[in-house]
Amino acid sequence: MAFFDARRSFESEWPDIEKHLDEIFAYGKYSHGHKTLELEKAVRQFTGAAFAVGVNSGTDALILLLRAAGIKSGDEVVVPCYSFFATASAVHHTGATPVFVDIDAASYAMQPDLTRQAVTNATKAIMPVHLFSQMADMGALAEVASDTNVPLIEDSAESIGMFYGGVHAGLHGIGGVLSFFPTKTLGALGDAGMVITNNQLIADRCALMRHHGRMGVTAGKISGISNAAALSGTNSKMDEVQAAVLLARLPRLSRAIARRAELVRQFDAQLADIEQVRTPRIAPRPVSSGPVWYVYLIEAENRDLLASHLAAVGVGTEIYYPRPLHLQPAFAHLGYRYGDFPVAERAAQRVLALPLYPDLTSGQVSHVCDSIREFYTRGGR
Ligand SMILES: Cc1ncc(COP(=O)(O)O)c(C=O)c1O
Repeated sequence: MAFFDARRSFESEWPDIEKHLDEIFAYGKYSHGHKTLELEKAVRQFTGAAFAVGVNSGTDALILLLRAAGIKSGDEVVVPCYSFFATASAVHHTGATPVFVDIDAASYAMQPDLTRQAVTNATKAIMPVHLFSQMADMGALAEVASDTNVPLIEDSAESIGMFYGGVHAGLHGIGGVLSFFPTKTLGALGDAGMVITNNQLIADRCALMRHHGRMGVTAGKISGISNAAALSGTNSKMDEVQAAVLLARLPRLSRAIARRAELVRQFDAQLADIEQVRTPRIAPRPVSSGPVWYVYLIEAENRDLLASHLAAVGVGTEIYYPRPLHLQPAFAHLGYRYGDFPVAERAAQRVLALPLYPDLTSGQVSHVCDSIREFYTRGGR
């Protein structure tokens, strides 16, 4: 079985997708058009965000959000050392320096006390990342932010549907982002992303920058695009076809999230007695924030051999993440060393993501779990 497969769902989604595609042809606008606006509205409704700005990837959303928040050369942004590369590269793209901190072993999110220690006079933002299934400890991080007078910006790329204290991921500070990369909980058929925020100025700046700063008073055009550039931006317009796919999928999202949770219960139950495997742990959080399972990440002894065994029996897996950010060659100039962040370094050697998507069957879950059991019964090599 593939690590990710959405073909079966696609068949039932297709009539809705086709309806949206027909409307795109009728409007004749294929990028940053009516479907993007419709999706922005639907995401505002789903998340409770006051503003949503569709762009062409989660990475671009992060870069634009950081720039809109005024992050620039000479600034520091505190980020967890364990995340997808984009978390740190987006900071780097603004000219600022990512300052890494270690993570909490249960949630894989930045550790609040270490975050506090990393804040300096140059720190202009603290950027928690909510990974895999749960949010960072936003209560403690909000305290750090308020005590140090440094704003929060969230890399909420993986966390559509996650709430903390009733507030959706991405809306606890200046703003956050969503990635609609195909494997995400809400995925497109290609790249797409979005900035979400309650701050109008931030939203306006992101909307400007996604389209070369071109937003004026031209009547009858989407977002009033004009030929005068108000500020220097980039081309990060949202693809209308991706917006169409996402519009068809968003009404099915709650069902998809529930199906993922059901599959996780099956994985948890079947893996519980395998002592070489640690199933995911959910850190205690306020009542309203149950996990949303984007990735089912186990920690396993002899992880690489287990991954090879699973590949041999036809099970695709992924490692999120094999190398922490502070040890990435691109950040060698920052001078971090192996041993600086032991929790993340240990996780990087042990984690393995198993297939998890709504189309997965209970039979497939059992095949994955039986194959893992077989591997360790044979001695784990
Ligand atoms: C934590 C995190 N940040 C940022 C991104 C970047 O999103 P995208 O792949 O849409 O550019 C991703 C997704 O891949 C992610 O998982």
